[in-house]
Amino acid sequence: MGDEYLVEMRRVSKRFPGVLANDRVDLTVRAGEIHVLLGENGSGKSTLMSILAGLYRPDEGEIYIGGRRVYLRSPRDAIRAGIGMVHQHFRLVDTFTVARNVVLGDPRVPFFLSRRRIERDIAGLSRQYKLRVDSRARVWQLSVGERQRVEILKVLYRGCRVLVLDEPTAVLTPQEARELFHNLREMAANGRAVVVITHKLPEVMEIADRVTVLRRGRAVATLERGTFNQRDLAWLMVGRDVVFQIDKPPASRGEIVLEIKDLSVLRDSGRPGLQGLSLDVRAGEILGVAGVAGNGQRELAEAVTGLRPVQAGAVLLAGRDITNVGVRGVIEQGVGYIPEDRLGTGLVPGLGVVDNLILKDYRRPGFHRGPFLNRRRCREQAAALVDRFDVRHSGLDTPVKLLSGGNLQRLLLAREISGALRLIVAVYPIRGLDVGATEAVHRMLLEQRAGGRAILLISEDLDEIFKLSDRIAVLYEGRVTGLLPAGETNPEEVGLLMMGGPAKGAGV
Ligand SMILES: Nc1ncnc2c1ncn2[C@@H]1O[C@H](COP(=O)(O)OP(=O)(O)O)[C@@H](O)[C@H]1O
Ligand SMILES: [Mg+2]
Repeated sequence: MGDEYLVEMRRVSKRFPGVLANDRVDLTVRAGEIHVLLGENGSGKSTLMSILAGLYRPDEGEIYIGGRRVYLRSPRDAIRAGIGMVHQHFRLVDTFTVARNVVLGDPRVPFFLSRRRIERDIAGLSRQYKLRVDSRARVWQLSVGERQRVEILKVLYRGCRVLVLDEPTAVLTPQEARELFHNLREMAANGRAVVVITHKLPEVMEIADRVTVLRRGRAVATLERGTFNQRDLAWLMVGRDVVFQIDKPPASRGEIVLEIKDLSVLRDSGRPGLQGLSLDVRAGEILGVAGVAGNGQRELAEAVTGLRPVQAGAVLLAGRDITNVGVRGVIEQGVGYIPEDRLGTGLVPGLGVVDNLILKDYRRPGFHRGPFLNRRRCREQAAALVDRFDVRHSGLDTPVKLLSGGNLQRLLLAREISGALRLIVAVYPIRGLDVGATEAVHRMLLEQRAGGRAILLISEDLDEIFKLSDRIAVLYEGRVTGLLPAGETNPEEVGLLMMGGPAKGAGV
């Protein structure tokens, strides 16, 4: 047996409530290789590796190491079996030193082992693998890249022969990523097996000796370096699944409603979110923005709707500059917003249906008498909207947190659409909805399109993007890397662009 096949996962399945996260997956990882696990968000990558790291128990399937069956009931078992994982969210104690974090929870380190000895060992490892970090520093003092090195040192210190990294480059600058890959190569050359999870195609091309592609929980292919290109991978990841067509009359594109010029916006972390993004959406058009989550979608939606300050560039609505006018200013210009987090930013959970519906209208004429709200008028308006948008509720004053997901979404749509005279910004509008509610939401968006509104639709779901959009813009790392008429492209091409493939389309 020996080392050639170090780790074998055979027909491993894992079910969570309502989702089969891993479906009879076979995966073999060899000593000395960098094996990339590639797949879209939600395809089951983290789950599969969490099973290998002893965090989850598989519902079925077997794991072998060096040909011997192993049972990994806890991370401790996995470490004993030589498997260590660096998770997407680091698990370090901020107030402890690097050295203390490295030995923390290591079953083999005796309590009384001298601090100097530990620091010396860590310094040795850190030199050997060029993982620069001061073992006496406290974690809170470290950059994200350094924290990641601590996590890697932790795994190496435990003598692990299989190193798993979950989307390690997501938090790194390109330079740090290059350095990391270099270090991983070194570890593989030393006889370790390295598994890297990613959804970025250029990374696969750069580091994979072999790649296994997961799609909807299943391993659809394992390929050797040199036998694949980015297009093959995109195809395997996204799949050839048919895009269901719904009745969509041809667009009657009118004048430009939303114009975004060279927009730069920061993320919450202070790093660039959008970097000189330009787009326009016309009346009667749905512009679909595709992309893997975290590539600037939230920043785009929030900049347009006045929720996030714009650093540079401009947002124009029907020719009028609405850059940094704030939420109220944007609403007054006739913009509706269907946010990602419906109960967090869209609706007030504890308030009733009426109050939620008038939340944005209460300053309008007709809704108040002197300083007082005109309750009767509000109720009438709410009742009409609820009826028109088919919101099922058990009373207009029932707190909306008691409504089901589909009804919440219809309520939000009712409010936003009724106030949206010009533009609707919809972010993942069908997330968490079942098929029926999805249909209803899509129908409403198409009605609004037919009514001459401009719609900016942000979604990760390519089916949805293709079903609704007239044009598709692809967002990658805060920029538009593709801008294509929906009828002249296909999911594979868009998938490729989403993963950082070469830019394509007019004005990109
Ligand atoms: N702890 C969990 N509880 C319930 N569902 C989960 C849990 N972890 C993951 N899932 C679901 O399992 C599927 C696969 O998730 P995950 O393995 O995280 O995918 P990936 O890492 O490829 O993005 C998704 O549908 C996700 O929502
Ligand atoms: Mg994951």
